[in-house]
Amino acid sequence: MSPWRMSRTFPGSPVAITEARRFVTALLSTWPVTEDAELIVSELATNAIRHSASGRFGGCFTVAVHATHSRIWLGILDQGGQRAPHPLPPQADEEGGRGLALVAALATSWGVTGDEQGRIVWATLNPAPEKTAAR
Ligand SMILES: Nc1ncnc2c1ncn2[C@@H]1O[C@H](COP(=O)(O)OP(=O)(O)O)[C@@H](O)[C@H]1O
Ligand SMILES: [Mg+2]
Repeated sequence: MSPWRMSRTFPGSPVAITEARRFVTALLSTWPVTEDAELIVSELATNAIRHSASGRFGGCFTVAVHATHSRIWLGILDQGGQRAPHPLPPQADEEGGRGLALVAALATSWGVTGDEQGRIVWATLNPAPEKTAAR
């Protein structure tokens, strides 16, 4: 398989979360990690809209997918702002605060780059080693 990369920019409104998830579903439909990728993109797109300048009027965010034969890299590019992504400690009785913890649990690796001008929250998924281990 030749490596490929695709990206798409979405408006910073809640309806775009579904569109971003569908974009990734369509791209990764033949991969064994589609559901994990969908969950990760949903959480990160929600965060971009809720916590970064992407959620302001006229804002946008970009979803990028890079795939090689053994690894998928997902990146959500937002428009920055004063707050920075940070996983919150578990709070048993409270709604929310679990998005980045979920991303960390599902992804092989993840991270944040950028600054208040714009950030990328990225995650990788490695489908191949799991398949090898199951053999
Ligand atoms: N893209 C982002 N830009 C700025 N801050 C973010 C971003 N994503 C997450 N954060 C910060 O990290 C915290 C943890 O995110 P998360 O685990 O998804 O919980 P929640 O979104 O429910 O607050 C958020 O409350 C927010 O302060
Ligand atoms: Mg969140």
